Amino acid sequence: MNTILYMAPIMGVTGCIYRNVYSRFFTGYDKAVTPFIGNTKGRRSSLKDVLPENNRAGFALVPQILDDQPANFIKLAKKLYDMGYGTVNWNLGCPMRMIRNKRRGSGMLPYHADIVSFLDKTISVIPNRVSLKVRLGSEERSDLAVLLPQLDRFDLEEIIVHPRTGVEMYSGKADISAFEECLSLSKHAFVYNGDIDSLEKYQTLSERLPSITRWMIGRGGITNPFLPEEIKAQKSVPLHEKEKRFKSFHDALLEEYQKTLSGPSHLIGKMKEAWEYWSGAMKDGETLFLEISRAKSLKQYHAAISASRMIS
Ligand SMILES: Cc1cc2nc3c(=O)[nH]c(=O)nc-3n(C[C@H](O)[C@H](O)[C@H](O)COP(=O)(O)O)c2cc1C
Repeated sequence: MNTILYMAPIMGVTGCIYRNVYSRFFTGYDKAVTPFIGNTKGRRSSLKDVLPENNRAGFALVPQILDDQPANFIKLAKKLYDMGYGTVNWNLGCPMRMIRNKRRGSGMLPYHADIVSFLDKTISVIPNRVSLKVRLGSEERSDLAVLLPQLDRFDLEEIIVHPRTGVEMYSGKADISAFEECLSLSKHAFVYNGDIDSLEKYQTLSERLPSITRWMIGRGGITNPFLPEEIKAQKSVPLHEKEKRFKSFHDALLEEYQKTLSGPSHLIGKMKEAWEYWSGAMKDGETLFLEISRAKSLKQYHAAISASRMIS
């Protein structure tokens, strides 16, 4: 079966610079959903992130909107359409407490009537197609199960499900049974998202979910940037090749960030966001991450990473 892989949005990491540099060194992803564009702080830089001239990655891009006001959503979706984006993704999954408390992201999931009304007011008046990114619920796993049948009458591109609740954040395990239940409650196309961190995990999941062809990879695809390629080829990349290519990728990413960020602390701070994941694939990763965190100059940063070795 044809496997379609999506790069998950990871705010702070998977911005346009990461996506562009990533696609120079790796293959495997077919599509990426961008970190969310909100309606307040950081709006301008989020829009810059999706400007077509800033996006040269070799995969399709779907901008994501986090908003609970139909008028804001419509305005932004139209703007994104004019930039060339035929599909936008609506974030109904963000678990951050501040967002949830405002009934946005996963915080909106218990309010079924509001979601239905939002879609009624938006889908028919924007030129874009709409996909959803959801969790199982805000606090209760049943939120999504109750909502799904009510979404059948909308013409949605697809529904991306991360099977945890908002309050769970990233603790415990993704609930595969709950994801299976979603499939039986909806006519829509689904994308599975959650805890895919190795080729073996993907193989187990794809045996368990034979009808799924669309898979979204988040943290596991940053920790091991070879993972999408390994999934597509159904075999691991040899360690010696990984070390060489990872180093080239790292150096190119550092170089690109250096062009836009001023001063070593900004630059090291940005690289640290990626090292939070990469260190998980390195020998003595925790110590390595601590040393990177302490670096105040580029010289110290390079000294900290010089001895880093991948585990597998
Ligand atoms: C630091 C961080 C930032 C994230 N930012 C976003 C975001 O902007 N929009 C979104 O829909 N999901 C966001 N996510 C959730 C991921 O896209 C994904 O759904 C989640 O990590 C589960 O997939 P995984 O187990 O493959 O990592 C974020 C997750 C993390 C850890």
